[in-house]
Amino acid sequence: MEVRERGPIVAVDGPAGAGKSTVARKMAQRLGFLYLDSGAMYRALALKALQHGIDLRDELALAELLASSEITLLGNGQHEPAVWLDGEDVTALLRTPEVNASVSLVAGFRMVREEMVRRQRRLACGGWVVMDGRDIGTYVLPCADLKFYLTASLEARARRRLNDLIAQGFHPELNVLGEEIRNRDVLDASREVGPLRQAEDAIVIDTTDMEVDRVVDMMVENFRQRVS
Ligand code: CDP
Repeated sequence: MEVRERGPIVAVDGPAGAGKSTVARKMAQRLGFLYLDSGAMYRALALKALQHGIDLRDELALAELLASSEITLLGNGQHEPAVWLDGEDVTALLRTPEVNASVSLVAGFRMVREEMVRRQRRLACGGWVVMDGRDIGTYVLPCADLKFYLTASLEARARRRLNDLIAQGFHPELNVLGEEIRNRDVLDASREVGPLRQAEDAIVIDTTDMEVDRVVDMMVENFRQRVS
């Protein structure tokens, strides 16, 4: 009989707007796993820095801010995932245009990433989790049992972001969003620490023309065949 020391770990990486958080959350729900959104942790720090007027280019100030911040991810599949920052539910504040524009700067600093990665590994160490991000399969959890890399055309990704923002009451322009996503892709892929990269052993899914549920079905099928 195989004895596992921990439960399974699923890593989902990819660029902005490839649909990671939606499908990772649904996959976690289907498997009864915890959903851990690593991007939400960077977003929570960016939000706090904006709220406190911290200079977003000041690595030390951001690292100190993080050291005194409690970021909690709630996502047991029963409820919509929520993010708490210092005891307050900030879920609705994390995907605003201001945070979108600041998060990759904050996430680019080594001191910030080292602490975030430590926290992410601690959250995932028992397994039974789906974690999504940029560097999960390559750096945070290279031992993950199953890795996905989601992509989609820039236009499809900008359209999805547009729909997300319209649902929140914002009215951005598609080409502005396309530009912002392109900028974030460049920052995320070119940074020295924890860059966006496809793991060699990741299953690549191009979601450009795929419905969310089809992507989730495919991921769950892969899980059943390869892991469970
Ligand atoms: O949902 P979307 O793909 O737009 O972004 P997200 O997953 O919420 O991540 C927001 C930002 O956090 C990314 O653009 C990255 O700059 C950063 N991030 C990161 O550096 N490493 C991760 N593991 C996750 C996110």
